[in-house]
Amino acid sequence: MPAQVIDGKTIAQETRKKIAEDVQHFFALYGRAPGLAVVLAGDDPASRVYVNNKIKACEETGIASNAYMLPAAVSQAELISLIKELNLNAAVDGILVQLPLPKGLCAETVLSHISPFKDVDGFTAVNAGRLMLGSPALTACTPSGCIELIKSAGVSIAGKHAVVVGRSNIVGKPAALLLLSHNATVTVCHSKTQNLAEITRQADILIAAVGIKHFITGDMIKDGAVVIDVGINRFEGKLYGDAEFDSCFKKASFITPVPGGVGPMTIAMLLRNTLSAAQALAKERLNYAF
Ligand code: GUN
Repeated sequence: MPAQVIDGKTIAQETRKKIAEDVQHFFALYGRAPGLAVVLAGDDPASRVYVNNKIKACEETGIASNAYMLPAAVSQAELISLIKELNLNAAVDGILVQLPLPKGLCAETVLSHISPFKDVDGFTAVNAGRLMLGSPALTACTPSGCIELIKSAGVSIAGKHAVVVGRSNIVGKPAALLLLSHNATVTVCHSKTQNLAEITRQADILIAAVGIKHFITGDMIKDGAVVIDVGINRFEGKLYGDAEFDSCFKKASFITPVPGGVGPMTIAMLLRNTLSAAQALAKERLNYAF
């Protein structure tokens, strides 16, 4: 039977509507909107589109956003100094540094200066570590979006064999940890994995996050698998996923499309993290005041 397509756009819209209501509630309680600072260094066109989409989503949700557009030649010291300012700015609850950074800047070093309380990407060692420990954390947006999409399909994760293809710090590793925290049995595959198809064919849930167009084909999945496609591969002006949609669609039970699957959910999760960070910081300030 052909798969049911998980409509990420609609699910993200519903999620954003709920966040917008909670933002209103936050405003009524604290007299200000949650604030997100988005930092973009350089002029990568794809990054610019992502950043603009994030800013627009904030506006639509009632979150106050500020974009800091820096030249590609910005020094690491200047970037870190901006982050330190934003850490101290009480109107800023979330800080997002768009990746990749221009050549010569070390993402790991730059990101390490973001306050873990404002780390709405969940990329700092503190939040990544808390995720590993199973403690409450700000978690990476794309993997959180994947989990929400699986749940939205009514698929229970506990006890399932989840295979994550890709081991990036942004998607693969946090996705594996989130699936584990939902009691899946998790296998992580990567570019050095031998007999990849043998492993992917065992997946009840397959997360494709390799960044290679049509890397996962229908013959690599089992009947009834849930396929979550994280890929955003641009080719001749069009977007393609990491999974070859047509052949996977014929075998999967559920599949996310590209575009319109994981992408919109990533932004919704960023808004959710910004609100969560704002709520936690506002509560902390109230405790401090009394
Ligand atoms: N570049 C690609 N994905 C992401 C993301 O989720 N967050 C940031 N900051 N940069 C990215």
